[in-house]
Amino acid sequence: MKNIAILGYGTVGSGVYKIINDNNSHVSRRAGEEIKVKYVLDLRDFPGDPVEEVLVHDVDVIIEDESVDVVVEVMGGVEPAYTFVKRALQAGKSACTSNKELVAKHGAELISIAQEKNVNFFFEASVGGGIPIIRPLIECITADHIEEIQGIMNGTTNYILTKMEDEGADFDTVLKDAQDKGYAERNPEADIEGHDACRKIAILSSLAYEKQVDFEDIYTEGITKITTDDFDYMKKIGASIKLLGIARKEGSTVYSMVAPFVIYADNPLYNVKDVFNAILLKGDMLGDVMFYGKGAGSLPTASAVVSDVVDAVKRTGATAEILWESTKREIGSADAFTTPYFVRIKGGDKAAVENAFGTVEYIDGKDGETAFITGVMSGSDFNKAAEGFDVVSRIRVSK
Ligand code: HSE
Repeated sequence: MKNIAILGYGTVGSGVYKIINDNNSHVSRRAGEEIKVKYVLDLRDFPGDPVEEVLVHDVDVIIEDESVDVVVEVMGGVEPAYTFVKRALQAGKSACTSNKELVAKHGAELISIAQEKNVNFFFEASVGGGIPIIRPLIECITADHIEEIQGIMNGTTNYILTKMEDEGADFDTVLKDAQDKGYAERNPEADIEGHDACRKIAILSSLAYEKQVDFEDIYTEGITKITTDDFDYMKKIGASIKLLGIARKEGSTVYSMVAPFVIYADNPLYNVKDVFNAILLKGDMLGDVMFYGKGAGSLPTASAVVSDVVDAVKRTGATAEILWESTKREIGSADAFTTPYFVRIKGGDKAAVENAFGTVEYIDGKDGETAFITGVMSGSDFNKAAEGFDVVSRIRVSK
């Protein structure tokens, strides 16, 4: 039998507890041994909840109990999660987490401690919630160089953009509606400014290209400047706008970015709507492969965490090889990142547009403005070309 301790009895922790109990014989058969929740750590009490029988308030009880084999960290935030996970690994326990802040910041170090101690540190649920993406990336798609990752990795912003597109409602109205329905946080900044997606693409960039990509280095632009007028133009060209996390390798340079992108209908991400997430990988041999599903929520996220627990139990006595060096990778800047741009400017001087931007494709526009798609250009060339124009909107276009 293997004993599990869950750190945090919130949305994900209660889902992990439920899955291990409700699907116990299935999960145990897949793990090859019976799995039991021995402890749940939380500061709160839960009177009347069966979890009371295993509830503890002191992490030392868990760390010092040699019969605990796997610690599940689902508290969120860097501290005290980092200290607790590090102590658990150092005490010879495997650790599984859904915590993107923890993994983006300390993933490389925690993987290396797990290797020293011959245990495992797994984090499938930290990107894309219930969608399997980490394990496919490090264990399945091993024959390919990953040329690019494009991910819709934030359900809140995808929901807001879908409503703006389908219902013609403006950003503030949709955000308020999403908050009232509980789809968006009262403080929505981490989602709408792209910080949540930034942590997730930092993790995927580090894994795909095997060296630490610091999330602080990733150019991050949220969705607050997107308007219903932008979506009106998208309807004319059969495209949509999605908040993407991008990782791309060109030569020896890795680019990583979070920004809204124009997506044409031939990109499989075009049909990813509402709170759903999807991650599109481009392998040099495989071509495109997309992973789609629920990127948040108690049971989908907990399902990914429990799959890590099963894997950790199956691998007892051996450590999975995860290539993620702690050496920092300097990434290419947003100025050097090349892409076409969708642009709206005030006025209608096409000669001046072509003089600055070269050949462009015009889109029939609103009165008093000119809209067009540029050729592929770097961020710095775009900024130079745009000088002197009154730019209403500019959105990168997925190549
Ligand atoms: N706030 C996140 C989202 C939750 O909207 O996708 C999962 O990280």
